[in-house]
Formats: sequence, C-alpha cells, structure tokens
Amino acid sequence: MLFEPISFSGLELENRLVRSATYEKRADEDGHVTEHLIDLYEELARGGAGLIITGNALVHPSGRTVPQMLSVHSDIYLDGLKRLTDRVHALGGVIALQVVHGGRQCPPVLLGGAQPMAPSEVYEPVLKVSPRAMSNEEVWQMVEAFAQAARRAQLAGFDAVQIHGAHGYLVSQFLSPYTNRRDDYWGGDAERRFHFLEEVYKAMRQEVGSLYPILIKLNGDDLLPGGLQPQESLQIARRLQDMGIAAVEISGGMIESEPKPVRPNILRPEQEAYFRPIGALFKRNLQVPVILTGGMRSRAVMEQVLREGAADMVGLSRPFIREPNLPQLLRQGKERADCISCNKCMRFMRLDFVKCVALIEKDQA
Ligand SMILES: Cc1cc2nc3c(=O)[nH]c(=O)nc-3n(C[C@H](O)[C@H](O)[C@H](O)COP(=O)(O)O)c2cc1C
Repeated sequence: MLFEPISFSGLELENRLVRSATYEKRADEDGHVTEHLIDLYEELARGGAGLIITGNALVHPSGRTVPQMLSVHSDIYLDGLKRLTDRVHALGGVIALQVVHGGRQCPPVLLGGAQPMAPSEVYEPVLKVSPRAMSNEEVWQMVEAFAQAARRAQLAGFDAVQIHGAHGYLVSQFLSPYTNRRDDYWGGDAERRFHFLEEVYKAMRQEVGSLYPILIKLNGDDLLPGGLQPQESLQIARRLQDMGIAAVEISGGMIESEPKPVRPNILRPEQEAYFRPIGALFKRNLQVPVILTGGMRSRAVMEQVLREGAADMVGLSRPFIREPNLPQLLRQGKERADCISCNKCMRFMRLDFVKCVALIEKDQA
C-alpha cells in the first residue's frame, strides 16, 4: 500500500510517504532560500517522497523559534521560494510550505530581546519564557500574517500550504486549554479556543481561493495535564473538514510535555508509530486523508498502519535527515530506516545545519 498513489484536493501523490516538516537551518540569516537549502529539497525530490513538506516557515518576525529558518513574512522572499519550487517540480516532486508562528516557544534572543507573545501569560519552563498575552489587535494581525503567508506560498508555486497547528506553537497554543486561559472571543471554552485557527483558515482560504490545498498538522494530544485531548482535537479536525481542509497530519506534544513530539530511541517495531491510536480514531471519524507522523521506521509498520486504517499516509522526519532517498530504498526492498532516533540532529544551536550526527560519527569511527 505504501507505494500506491493517492489523490486528494487536486494533489496527485505517487506514494503514501510524506516527508514531514523538518527545520533545516539552511536559510540565510534573514530567512531567504539558499542553494544549500535547494540542494536538500532536490535530494528529497529525487529520493521519491510522495509529498515533501518544508521546514516551518516564519509568518511574522515576532514568531521566530530558531535561527536561519525559512521565512515567508514578506514579498521579498518570493523569488527565492519560487526558485525552490521550480527546482523541485523539475524533478517531479510535490511540495507544500509549512507556515508557523512560535508564540511562547520563541527564545527572546531571537526576537531582539523582546518578550514573546502568546494567548495567555503561561510560563514556559524549557526556554524559561514568561510570555505576554496578545491584545485583540495583535491576534488579528497574526491571522492576517498567516493569510499573507498562504498567498505567498501559492504565488511561489508551492503545491499546497500546511498550517503548523501542532507542538505547542501559536496555533496549538490557542487550541490548548493549557496555554489558552483567555476569556474573550479567542478563549474560554472549546468553541472560542478554536476561533484563532478558524479565522486563520478562513483568511488563508480567502487569499488562495477555494481550490488550493490547505493542510494542517495538529496535536492529537498535547500530552500535558490540562492540555488538548484526542476527542477535542477530533472535533477541531471535523470542523476543519467541513471548512475544506485537504488533509490532517497527526502529531502531539509541546516543548514542555513528556513525552515530547520527537521521541528518542525508536529502535523496536513496538515503539514505532507512537500516535497510532489517535490516527485510528481520526481515520474512523474523518473522510479527509489522515497523515500519521511520529516514529515510523520500518516498512512493515508503515504498511500495517495503512492497512489497519490508522492513516492514509505516513509522515517521517528524522529518517529523511539521514536518508533523503529513503522512499527509493524502501521500494527497492530495504526493511528499515537507518535512523536510530538519537536526536543529535536537534542540537540546533550547535550544528551549522541540520544533519545526521550519528551518521557522521559512524563514518569517523
Ligand atoms: C531536526 C528536526 C526539525 C523539525 N522541524 C519541524 C518543523 O519545522 N515543523 C514540524 O511540524 N515538525 C518539525 N519536526 C518534528 C517532525 O516533523 C516530526 O513530527 C517528529 O520528528 C516525529 O517524526 P519522526 O519520528 O519521523 O522524526 C522536526 C523534527 C526534527 C528532528
């Protein structure tokens, strides 16, 4: 099944393997596309992923989470982004731009020392950030920033855009009862916590027209006491389905949750596909395609996930850092990705760009 094509919302994918969004640290200091970044996406396109989702691209300078991340908060980025999509398309690749605002999960040092903003003043213990609550006007400004980012994604030739609504970033912060303690249009109950995403989606749709595919990556579970739970997340997905979302990618966790979205040491089949029960719940209750992400390593587990109805597509991140041509290798009979989930690729501040450190260490040994 893994290598069966799938079509939805005008996208025609050759197979069910999705390169889940993965920050690359390959943009320049200002967030422009570089040749180094294009090299990676050409490798991924040649490698045969059915759908490539870019690393998260910044919709507004106030939402920067990491250095040298791709940016889409101004028209000055259009030429570079267009160059990127042209080169991927020349190799037959299908590529979506993931768009993000970091909210409270932004290190102040990347905001010129400014205090990060968030739905509410909920202390974030990993970065040790006390965010300030956004004003109503600021919330609307960020809605508009997402809409403009979608317009640019479409103009730059991306086949789709994906809202980063997972992992405790701004959209996820509004959805989560843990981080959203507001009592206004933007929070107070499940309905109002959904408003930010609803307005973002509507504003994006307004910019890109009725046919352009808008996808979302959503936390099926925040994995935090008082956080978003699978049933509420499913209701959100249903609402988005009614509004025309093209596909829902499932992930979970936040920066301070345990476990985290990127779990280490996935070495045995039973550790793989760690959001599988949520995938199955979503699949049972949705008609739009579901992408399941998190810990997929072996072909047998991926096939099983698709066969048992826990997903329509599987999303992988770390394995593609080590083996950008993994789909090709799996098609040729490889049983398992080489990734050992050591998470050394996540030492963002120390690495000059995101790469497989374990592979380099192995080669040096
Ligand atoms: C280096 C690195 C960068 C990541 N960047 C993003 C990102 O930009 N957007 C996103 O939604 N998830 C990001 N993730 C999370 C992955 O997309 C994925 O949800 C998670 O790693 C679990 O999948 P895996 O087990 O296949 O790695 C990143 C993960 C890693 C390791």
